[in-house]
Amino acid sequence: MNKKRQFIENLINQMTIEEKIGQMVQYGKVNDEIKKKIRKGQVGSLLNVQGAKNINELQKLAVNESRLGIPLLIGDDVIHGYRTIFPIPLAESCSWDMELIQKSAYIAAKEAKSCGVNWIFAPMVDIARDPRWGRIAEGAGEDHFLGAEIAKARVKGFQTAEKDFPLVASCPKHYVGYGAVIGGRDYNNVDMSENYLKTYYLPPFKAAYDAGALTTMSSFNDLFSVPLTINKKVLRDILRNELNFKGLVVSDWESVEESIYHRVSQDRKEAALKGLLASCDIDMHSGVYDENLKQVIEKHPELEQLIDEAVYRILSVKYELGLFDNPYIDEELHKDIILHPHYRQHALEIAKKSIVLLENKHNILPLHDKNQVIALIGPYANDQENHLGCWSCKGDKDDVVSIYTALTTNLKHTKVLMETACDFTDHYNINIDKALEVAKQSDIVILALGEPRYYSGENNNRINLNLPGYQERLIDEISKLHKPTIALIASGRPLSLGNIKEKVDAIVWTWHLGLEAGNAIYAVLFGLTNPSGKLTVTFPKAVGQIPLYYNHKSTGRSHFPRYIDGDDIPLYPFGYGLSYSQYSYSNLTLVKDHITKHETLKFTIDVTNKGPYSGEEIVQVYFQDHFASVTLPVKQLCAFRKVFLEPQETKTLHFSVNPKQFGLYNENNEFVIEPGTFTLYVGTNSVDVLSTDFVISE
Ligand code: NOJ
Repeated sequence: MNKKRQFIENLINQMTIEEKIGQMVQYGKVNDEIKKKIRKGQVGSLLNVQGAKNINELQKLAVNESRLGIPLLIGDDVIHGYRTIFPIPLAESCSWDMELIQKSAYIAAKEAKSCGVNWIFAPMVDIARDPRWGRIAEGAGEDHFLGAEIAKARVKGFQTAEKDFPLVASCPKHYVGYGAVIGGRDYNNVDMSENYLKTYYLPPFKAAYDAGALTTMSSFNDLFSVPLTINKKVLRDILRNELNFKGLVVSDWESVEESIYHRVSQDRKEAALKGLLASCDIDMHSGVYDENLKQVIEKHPELEQLIDEAVYRILSVKYELGLFDNPYIDEELHKDIILHPHYRQHALEIAKKSIVLLENKHNILPLHDKNQVIALIGPYANDQENHLGCWSCKGDKDDVVSIYTALTTNLKHTKVLMETACDFTDHYNINIDKALEVAKQSDIVILALGEPRYYSGENNNRINLNLPGYQERLIDEISKLHKPTIALIASGRPLSLGNIKEKVDAIVWTWHLGLEAGNAIYAVLFGLTNPSGKLTVTFPKAVGQIPLYYNHKSTGRSHFPRYIDGDDIPLYPFGYGLSYSQYSYSNLTLVKDHITKHETLKFTIDVTNKGPYSGEEIVQVYFQDHFASVTLPVKQLCAFRKVFLEPQETKTLHFSVNPKQFGLYNENNEFVIEPGTFTLYVGTNSVDVLSTDFVISE
């Protein structure tokens, strides 16, 4: 028996049933009652508790005052930075930069850890195809291949080993299918086939688990008509048996109890029983396990085995984190860690790479700092708070660099006139006269527009995907002046922009960029950074097109028009994003155009920077299987590479794609690689590609 198993089993053998159940109980607040329970060893973890000193005191209650001295897991929602706030996860995904994404997670974990947190409820790895859903902001977009790569990077970053232990435990969430809530309505039902689940929704979870994620969180939704948290098929059969996940499962907030409101558990006792049977190890905050598991075991003593297994998994995470060696944090440490200048530097770096340039007519961008007047107009002009985005944890608006501050600090020759003109959502209290006056005095107008941060995140769903409030009219009014106009748009989701792109000369999509928003935007506007971000979600033209995603399956009638009053072509496709340079692709060459299903597909492609600026291009590789036993995506991402090119430079890129990428789930939901002909596509986005065919045989 290994050391860990021996240690934990020895502990479990000494535990009373109350103490075992205690490990399965988590509370999201601390009061005298909860402290009493901690002293009795009847609470194993907490969330929403803050501060190194406070957390050390709570650890002391568990370690010094409870009979067996088992330390606490302290969880927190650290979604895109702890105090140093990075771009929202959706924005970061547009960088397609695994190293930088991993580093953001590492820094977030360092800061959180210095304040006593040892468990981070992230990454969110839900595939999201519906921008009405507010939580699209928290994930990595619509594609499962890219989503899996990002999931891995984030787990590795959070769980970076320091002094022999991972900094914190990560918690990929929300297992599973949560991004497919019907109508983009958060907490709604989910209905999908096992084939869809395995093809599209599970891969990022699998990647996160394979990367070593110590825990995972069950989702609020149902799947196959059973709430996830009590769903034996999905939690036990698929998660534990098929995906071989050995870590602990925590419910989402009160979701064990919510099986009653789903009307699948009749009461709290039944909810507790079903949660246990499904292998949901920790009940987040509902108190259902705390109150009922003992009686459940009195009635079904044979189930104590399941409790022992759950407790094993929980103690195992505590052991892996080194909490039995030392659960305390140096209370001075955070002073050297929080907002470290290197962390801010990273926040700037990743913010610059998260920006996506959507339009740039007549190369109006980049701008040059010269004798000129710029009008900076709109609710984001000097805003600090909203760049923080949803779930900004301990983020403080006073740490955020606004666009106005960045422009006026950095520009030496350009005069900047600033006018907020309107609030984000208000249709009244508009200062349009002032905005027009300022615009008239200027050579260039920059409109700083977007959604406020509370428009995305948990249960912040939208019916409309337009710019809220008066902002679209502001564009109309300004465009009548026929001044060179640049729109900066910040959001937590794709928006359907109507005909905005006809009214402005450039559109720079900034998302919610975090602390360094202003500086990153300045760097892109003035060409210190050549934009390189590419969309990881499709932008629809109209809300009625949703869901719209690039890797939809083939149908029998794809040549039929889909709508009477429009088409199903996106405004901007997956993978799209401009640069100040243009990249050309040539010489797509397969090393072998015929491989067996055990062979790697190897090919090369030449990419040339034809523009006047050095820059990074995100080279994307897709494939299509011509015929298979089941319906398949029309196109599927299977590789990508970021390449830096000087002006006029050509690089030959060598790719190797694992044949497993070309596999599928068949009618029996088994993973197979079916021989046949495939098309390989390589290009700058999911639409503009070169292609060649290859064959896979047995
Ligand atoms: C509910 C959210 O769905 C989840 O993402 C979060 O981690 C928990 N609450 C804890 O705050």
